[in-house]
This record gives sequence, structure tokens and C-alpha cells, in this order.
Amino acid sequence: MTTFFSFLHPVQLTASLASASLTRGLLTSWVTAVLIGQWLFAAYITVQFAAPWATGALSESTFSHMIKGHVAGDNIGNAVLLLHILPVMLISMSGVLQLIPYLRQHFPRFHRLNGRLFLTLGLCGALTGLWLTWGRDTRLSNIGAIGITLNGLLIPIAVAAAWYYARKRDFKQHSRFAIHAFILINGVWSFRLMLMGWYMVNQGPNGNNATIDGPADLFMSFACYLLPMAIAEVYFWSQRHPRCAITVISNSALLITAGMTAVGVFAAGVMMWWPRIAAGAL
Ligand code: HEM
Repeated sequence: MTTFFSFLHPVQLTASLASASLTRGLLTSWVTAVLIGQWLFAAYITVQFAAPWATGALSESTFSHMIKGHVAGDNIGNAVLLLHILPVMLISMSGVLQLIPYLRQHFPRFHRLNGRLFLTLGLCGALTGLWLTWGRDTRLSNIGAIGITLNGLLIPIAVAAAWYYARKRDFKQHSRFAIHAFILINGVWSFRLMLMGWYMVNQGPNGNNATIDGPADLFMSFACYLLPMAIAEVYFWSQRHPRCAITVISNSALLITAGMTAVGVFAAGVMMWWPRIAAGAL
């Protein structure tokens, strides 16, 4: 007899965990959480930097929360910093739209143009970010900067591969590297999700310090992109080998990813972005 709890039976549970509809549901939940988090980040950039820039109201206080921020007389450094930050508004608004299957299928021209915009701005963000860190010496510690430096070096590789396979019309490889490019370009965003989620769960810092090179900081500086990239590879593996056990592993990983992303978006939204958006919008 089928009861309400029959899904808890091991066979039923495995069948449910291996279902393609669960995979679709988990991907939709993850993309929804990413969309909310990315647009909150874009709103923060708009209120904090883009709107004051557009209205000529930029001042040193705009950058006061940053490592170096605006330095009087350093015109090149200040310009590169703006070039690094302002496009983030577009990166965060546009990138997530590439993940929505409906837009890919019904608006292929938009997908192509938006993809080029996202990859170009992402590449620019990586190059300017590397220069800020090592050319302008904007880092809190050498060891704490290694994670983001590797992130910045991997972005051009993923961008080149995604572009190359799109032009070759090898869409399997294209979507694989485009997802890796998306994860890498959003590594700094994921780092904020992880850090704020960690603070929320621990009710404050735990293994973190002011120079962002405590053990938890160092772990997160690599995990913010390597962990989602590994999970993406598990998902692609399950798509290549649609066997029950592999799909269960992949769906379990997606479940954890969607849950962690939702917690991180909530934590970073409440602790970092929303207070600044609300203050700027008043
Ligand atoms: C394309 C991906 C990237 C995006 C979207 C991005 C985004 C941002 C944003 C939004 C800020 C301002 C932070 C705030 O207001 O709290 C920032 C600052 C900064 N970013 Fe990036 N970033 C990216 C890649 C990188 C890379 C790869 C590096 C280094 C290798 C880097 C180095 C920096 C540094 C040093 C600052 C601080 C500047 C200062 O405090 O004066 N970024 N980034």
C-alpha cells in the first residue's frame, strides 16, 4: 500500500533522488537563488558606485570601506579601480540570464550578444583585478591574495575555451566552459556568500582575521570557485553517464549547492548589500 511516507523507502528514495525532474527542480532553485543574489550585488554596485559616478557625486567616502580605494593624485590607479568596479553592475545583471534555458532557446541572438558582453567584461575584470592586486599593491596580505590571483588567472582560460567552442559550434563543450567561466567570474561574489554564510552560522568570525588570511579565509579564497567548479563537473559527468548512482550523487551535490547558495545570498544580502542599498536609496 502506498502511504504518505513511502518515499522514505530506500528503493523509492533512490528513484526519487535519481529522477530527471528533481535535477531540473534543483537547477531551477539554484538559478533562482543566484539571480536574486546577483541582482542584489548589481543593485549595491549601482547605488554605491555607478549612480554617484553618473551624477558626478563620487567622493573619497564612496570608497572608504575598501582596501585602498580612492587615492588622491593616483589618477591611473583610481581610473583602473573604476574600470574594475563599474562593469560589475552589467556583469551581475547579464551573466545569470545566460543560465535560463527559455532565453537560450527562444532568444539565441540575445544569448550570443549577452554572452559576448559577459565574457568580455569578465575578462576585463580579471585583468584589472590582477593589476590592482599586484600592480597597485591592493592586498591585505600576500598569502591571502593567492586564491583570488589563481581565480584571476583561470578566468582568461575559461573565457577563451567558452568562446572557442561556441565558434566551433561544439555546444556541449561550450556550455561546460561557459559554466566554468561563469563560476570563475563570480568567484568574488561566491566568496562574499561563503564568508557571510560562515559568519551567520558561527555567529561571528571563526578562523577569520582582519587580513583575510586566517585558515577559514584561506580555505574560502580557493573554495569559492574550486568547489562549485568541482560540483559542475559532477553534474556534467552525470549528464554523460545517466546511471542511477551517478545521478543520485549529482542531485545530492546540487541540493547542497542550491541550499548553500540560498543561505549565502540571504546572509550577504542582509549583512552586506541591503544596508548599503537602503542607505543609498533613502
Ligand atoms: C571578474 C571578476 C571580478 C569581479 C566581478 C570583481 C568585483 C569587485 C568588486 C565589486 C569590488 C568592490 C568591492 C566592494 O565594494 O566591496 C572589487 C574590488 C577589488 N577587486 Fe575585484 N572583481 C573581480 C576579479 C578580481 C580579481 C581576479 C582580482 C585580483 C586578482 C580582484 C581584485 C580586487 C581588488 C584588489 C579590489 C579592492 C580594491 C580596493 O580596495 O582598493 N578582483 N572587485
